[in-house]
This record gives sequence, C-alpha cells and structure tokens, in this order.
Amino acid sequence: MSEQAQKSRSGEIVDKHRRYLFEAVFNYYETPLPLQRGRGVHLYDFDGREYLDFFAGIVTVNVGHCHPRVTRAIQEQAETLQHVSTLYPTAPIVELAEKLAQITPGELSKTYFTNSGTEANETAVLLAQLATGAQTIVALRHSYSGRSSVARSLSGQSVWKMQSNQIASVVHAPAPYCYRCPFKLTYPDCGVACAEDIEEVVATTTPGVIAGFLAETIMGAGGFIVPPPEYFPIAVEIIRRHGGLFIADEVQTGFGRTGGAWFGIEHWGVEPDIMTMAKGIANGSPLGATVARADIADEFGGGFSISTFGGNPMSCAASHASITVIEEEGLLDNAAAVGAHLRQRLEELRERFPIIGDVRGMGLMQALELVVDRDTKEPAADAAKQIMEETKARGLLVGKGGLYGNVIRVGPPLNITAEQVDEGVEKLSAALAALP
Ligand SMILES: Cc1ncc(COP(=O)(O)O)c(C=O)c1O
Repeated sequence: MSEQAQKSRSGEIVDKHRRYLFEAVFNYYETPLPLQRGRGVHLYDFDGREYLDFFAGIVTVNVGHCHPRVTRAIQEQAETLQHVSTLYPTAPIVELAEKLAQITPGELSKTYFTNSGTEANETAVLLAQLATGAQTIVALRHSYSGRSSVARSLSGQSVWKMQSNQIASVVHAPAPYCYRCPFKLTYPDCGVACAEDIEEVVATTTPGVIAGFLAETIMGAGGFIVPPPEYFPIAVEIIRRHGGLFIADEVQTGFGRTGGAWFGIEHWGVEPDIMTMAKGIANGSPLGATVARADIADEFGGGFSISTFGGNPMSCAASHASITVIEEEGLLDNAAAVGAHLRQRLEELRERFPIIGDVRGMGLMQALELVVDRDTKEPAADAAKQIMEETKARGLLVGKGGLYGNVIRVGPPLNITAEQVDEGVEKLSAALAALP
C-alpha cells in the first residue's frame, strides 16, 4: 500500500467507527488512533509510526503483541477444531482448567469458562448466591466489574452505571483508597477503618447475612488503588463471620501483573473462595473464567447452564500458550523486578513534577494520580487528558482512569525490559514537561 493509501485507510477507519459503532464505544485521544499491527511491546499505526505500549490493550497483552508461541497455538487449534460449545468436552478446555487449578491459590479447583470479565463476575455472584442461599453482595466504591446489569450495579463509579437501576442485592463499602481516605484518616493510624467499616455496612444495609464480598485486589479502573496490607485479612474475616464468600476479582491483576505471584490476592495472604479472571488470561483472545473451591462450585448444581463460546478451543489454546510463556520466560519475576524499576522511575517523576500527587501500584501495574494542588488534592483531569495527547505525540501509549479521570495508568506487557521502561518514562517525563 502506498503512503497516501495507508493514510486514507486510517481516516476511513476513524470515519466508519464514528458512523457504524455506538457512540458509547469510545476511543482514546482527540483524533482516535487506528492501529495496524503489533509486535512485542510495540504497536504500529497506518503511517508505520511505532508506539511503545505501556497499556497492553487494557493490561491484557501480558506476553506481548503477537507472541509467536501464542500465535502458533491459535493457528494450530484453528486448523484442528474451532468450536463445539460447552456441550462437548475438548482437550483445550480440560487442559486449561487443570492448569488454572494448579496456579490459583488455596483450594480453588473448578472452573466455569465464559467470554469476558463481566460474565466471570456474573457467574461468581450467582454461584455465591446459590452456595450460601443468601442474596446480598458487598462490593466496593470506586470499583469496576463490567457492563452487564449486575456488573454495573457492582461497579462503584457513576460514569460506568449509565442509566440502569441498581439491583437491590448489591451494597457498597468504602474503598481502601488511602490517598483519598473516605474517613479522612492516615494509614497506619487509621486502624484500617475502611475494612472495619464493612461490619457497619453489613449491619445497616443488609439483612445481616450475606452471599459474598466481591473486590478487585487492586482497583483497576478506579486508578490502581492498592489496599493496605491489613485490608483483606480484616475485610474477609468480617464477611465470613456473616456467612459470605470472598470473590477476588483478578480480571486486571491476574496472570503475573502484580509481580512475583500469579494473582494479586497472594500478596495479602488471604485465600479466596471464588476468583474471577479475564483480560490477561489469554493475551487478548476472548475468555473469562470463574474458578471456585470444589465444594462451592458443586453448589451451582447440575441444572441447565450454558455458555456457547465459553471455553472456546482457540481461546483456551491461546491461554495455555500464554501461561506457558509466563512460566518459561520467568515473567512473574520480570514483572516484579522491572516493576520495581518502573516504580522508582515514577517516584523520581513525582519529585520533579508537583502535579503528581500520588504514585501507586504493584509490579507492572503502576499509576500516577494528577492533582492541581498537592494540599487540596483537587483532581487534575484536564492535565491527564493532555498527558494522553502529549505521550501519543511522542510515541507512547498509556491508560487513563480513576473516578475523577485524573489517573495515568501504566501496565505494559510483562516481558518489557528495564531499558524499554526507561525509554517510556523519558517520553512521559517530556509529556509532563510540556504541560502549561
Ligand atoms: C476488574 C475488572 N473486572 C471486570 C471487568 C470486565 O471485564 P470485560 O470488559 O472483559 O467484561 C473489567 C474490565 O475492565 C475489570 O477491570
């Protein structure tokens, strides 16, 4: 294709996107960025411009774009068996379920496969309700759980709820958001009031007996909010005392993202009863999974439940290959080591730029919260928008999030090197320096 033809192809895609997709399927950037191809930690647009990818398709492409091993697994599976539905057992579905039983913590051992994180959370909520006979789910403010009716009710951010009515059986506890403590306290003198408050939430907004507590181990769309070390042990003890199950939403934090462990919850030393996952599970192929203890999974019963595409052989093959790459390339360790390096570089930026109010995260899941003033902590949402444009102009893709739209999120593929992190941080630094 000639240079001119490539350019007009790019414009045509943006134009057709506007014309034929729902407006709610929004794109990043004032002028959206159609991407033509990807390789490793890089993406390329239709002009052949290279971008260092610090967001990995929303923390999903864990082993890099078009990893040859994952591509080969999909190709081989596509030539063998593409789809039969969950009505028939296949080798890819059972092999992946066995692998998940091995790498998930505690006694998690049985899986229900679906297509997305939303469905994984839907399945987990239904399972908790069936297993306990109770209805109420405690979720968290600032959370994001997906886009179905139940998932939008679980989500703790008004912008993601659209116009839906909150379903009656979901209540929200305060977020463990230390930078903006809901109780205006400071850790550790706070006594982890956000966790202790769950007792009050259960006593005042539920029948006193609950089905479960669904929480992201690091709140992704909320702006990579990391709970303090005591949070989950306290919160889960309260939940279990009231009959509830603990559902860990590992959709963003799963598969090595937090460094040194397969799943985020392992950093808190608490074993979930149910875990949900998607995103990084298959490096970008559509797949969701709800993994539970066998005794809990069995409470789902043997009735009618089907997911036509759930556990699709190609997605399962992609997932198995991706997990193998993480193991063979030592990516849990790389995420920890390069994540620590990234964190140090971001802390250096905080020293130079007063607009950075907070740096937080774990492993290769790190964020900058931008504020107009460090004392008032007024969110700097316009600056975050501008950083998106300035980084794009410099060939760097980052993510944005947080209730106030003022958090820059960094979540590159887990096989990124320290040198590539340095290159990206330099671009981010230049973008910050370009702010008025
Ligand atoms: C923590 C979390 N849970 C659930 C979901 C929903 O996943 P999906 O978009 O695959 O439905 C998301 C998506 O961003 C998420 O971040």
